Amino acid sequence: MHYMPTTPSQPTDKSDDLDFIHRYIQPQDRHDNSALTLLLLHGTGGNEDDLLPLGRELDPHAGLLSPRGKILEAGRIPRFFRRLAEGVFDIEDLTIRTFELAGFVEKASKRYEFDLDKVVAVGYSNGANIAASMLLLKPQTLSGAILFRAMVPLVPENLPDLSDKRIFLSSGLRDPIATKQEAERLYGLFKRAHAMVDLQWQNSGHELTQADIHTAKQWLTMNNKKQL
Ligand code: MLT
Repeated sequence: MHYMPTTPSQPTDKSDDLDFIHRYIQPQDRHDNSALTLLLLHGTGGNEDDLLPLGRELDPHAGLLSPRGKILEAGRIPRFFRRLAEGVFDIEDLTIRTFELAGFVEKASKRYEFDLDKVVAVGYSNGANIAASMLLLKPQTLSGAILFRAMVPLVPENLPDLSDKRIFLSSGLRDPIATKQEAERLYGLFKRAHAMVDLQWQNSGHELTQADIHTAKQWLTMNNKKQL
């Protein structure tokens, strides 16, 4: 499924102190202390508009924070970190970019006054991979994550304690990029880190389907009640 950009409710922000081009859309009720912030992380070649409709559909009450990846592959294809080849990541760059993105989320929470303890990443493909990296390297940035078509981004020397993190993996049985084996490896890594992780298989390839959205929404509704 391809998401078309919505009409933005706020202009894209390019200001220097929040050093990612991004959009921020306030929660429906600004005074709702229980509202989540969904950190929307697009796939390779995407931008800050791509996942806004998905975020709104997953949680109509949440604030939406959607940065654009800073890496330009071949000078024009946005990504969140460098890769050496398809599925072969530049780990040094990934590490730097992960901390940079975590710093952006912290600064954004001050600027837009959202609760840093209620941030849930929603990532697709390259965006899911940097969200997984954030859980492994800077877990305090996220209380949970929905990861569509994710791979193992890196294996840290010391596994963090993720026992308070809720993670939903939605993976394609026929995905040639984020393969079944990769998804199982990531699930195993999160399990070893004691995360509360669910892996849902979709009868699909790398593309996002309506079933992904349906099951992710169910998961989010259920887990939000359990205190995401
Ligand atoms: C990545 O580079 O993060 C993965 O290979 C997925 C992709 O973006 O194609």
